[in-house]
Amino acid sequence: PETGCLSIIVLGASGDLAKKKTFPALFNLYRQGFLPAEEVHIFGYARTKISDEELRNRIRGFLVDNKAASSKYSDDVLKFLELIKYVSGSYDTEDGFRKLDKEISEHEISKNSHEGSSRRLFYLALPPSVYPSVCKMIRNCCMNKSDLGGWTRIVVEKPFGRDLESAEKLSTQIGELFDEPQIYRIDHYLGKELVQNLVDIYFMALSFSFSKYPISSHFYSFIQLVLRFANRFFLPLWNRDNIHNVQIVFREDFGTDGRGGYFDEYGIIRDIIQNHLLQVFCLVAMEKPVSLKPEHIRDEKVKVLQSVLPITDEEVVLGQYEGYRDDPTVPDHSNTPTFATMVLRIHNERWEGVPFILKAGKALNSRKAEIRVQFKDVPGDIFKCKKQGRNEFVIRLQPSEAMYMKLTVKQPGLDMSTVQSELDLSYRQRYQGVVIPEAYERLILDTIRGDQQHFVRRDELKAAWEIFTPMLHRIDDGEFKPIPYQPGSRGPVEADELLEKAGYVQTHGYIWIPPTL
Ligand code: BG6
Repeated sequence: PETGCLSIIVLGASGDLAKKKTFPALFNLYRQGFLPAEEVHIFGYARTKISDEELRNRIRGFLVDNKAASSKYSDDVLKFLELIKYVSGSYDTEDGFRKLDKEISEHEISKNSHEGSSRRLFYLALPPSVYPSVCKMIRNCCMNKSDLGGWTRIVVEKPFGRDLESAEKLSTQIGELFDEPQIYRIDHYLGKELVQNLVDIYFMALSFSFSKYPISSHFYSFIQLVLRFANRFFLPLWNRDNIHNVQIVFREDFGTDGRGGYFDEYGIIRDIIQNHLLQVFCLVAMEKPVSLKPEHIRDEKVKVLQSVLPITDEEVVLGQYEGYRDDPTVPDHSNTPTFATMVLRIHNERWEGVPFILKAGKALNSRKAEIRVQFKDVPGDIFKCKKQGRNEFVIRLQPSEAMYMKLTVKQPGLDMSTVQSELDLSYRQRYQGVVIPEAYERLILDTIRGDQQHFVRRDELKAAWEIFTPMLHRIDDGEFKPIPYQPGSRGPVEADELLEKAGYVQTHGYIWIPPTL
């Protein structure tokens, strides 16, 4: 592993994302020994003129130390906060960035008195409108000192544009300043434990030649394990011959909660579907990559995105919850959807004819994210299984992370009937005491290690926008209107009708209950 000085610069340090996600993730990495104090220094940068101490006070409350139940701020929290320095400046003039560079360099000189490199990670917790100017300032004033070796990387958050054209423009602007291996487009869904598992399981099921590639021993043993137990289940089944439909679902039981201004500009398709759900979609549907190398994996994601057919109006239902426009930051006549269900169809040998249903909504009756793979009916069924429902493989991303397989079994007891049950791998029960890392934690660690596997490549982003842009333009122009739905409901009934039309069969009376410890 690389050693030497690592400077992590959080731009937009006093904003919501930095406070709620970036700093807590850095703290967790620090606590687990991934950010050793001898090497690491963290800088906060923003426009507000505040002191180091004031920034520390602002983020302190977001750093939860699970190990220190009794004293609120453990030693770890205090030591971590000491690593943070604040620099204020604007996002489009060089003064502030020169000051920032000076601070980083001083720290590098003091820490590199022996040997090591200059590693600089810039995390843009900022609105995308300032990405181009901030990237230019970093390029002009803050690049790593090449005589020390090392690197400069930037991490950017969605939204990467509003449509194909604006995203490409943004990519070009950033691309003129940084090379693709320096750019980490974060999609935090790719950092979720069960999403990562999906990649691994799928590859394990498909790939036979891992040993050629250098991977950590922990990872390798995991692969071995799953190879033995997983491939015969998944490999022959993962296609149109066996799978009837796939759902990728995101539900939240709260509305836009103070983010109405931001949300109204984007809507549920840009906020959740075009990025989070589409990334999960890629991992479910892509073909076997040549190897586990990040570029090979991303090549396959691009291919499956390029195989998606244009979405048809009949296979889209949009919704907006009643009361959404009461938010003072939302325009009275907003046409922005807070709910959408749509069917994607992939034109390739594996998936022709299989509907992939993407569904996301705010202010619904529950909070969960899951992938639901529904298999076809059993041919020549002598048990009349259809009444009991189909086999399903469900990956619950959150909450209560789990994978479960819905099966039909004989109703236990003297009664000769069948019932739907499940094989359940519930993580909290099966892996008691194992802390599942936060998505951001894992992804930030990847950026430090230079692993782009779980980040979105430029051509992938382009292909993702190509799928949704025609529909988004029609929504923006008011040609496609959302249907009102009650907050706390399942969303518009039309969405359930669309599911049924796409061939999804619900098992009435079956509810998966996460096991209690
Ligand atoms: C964000 C969206 O990217 O993801 C939010 O902007 C959404 O609208 C959030 O609430 C959901 O993330 P998670 O990790 O809580 O599922």
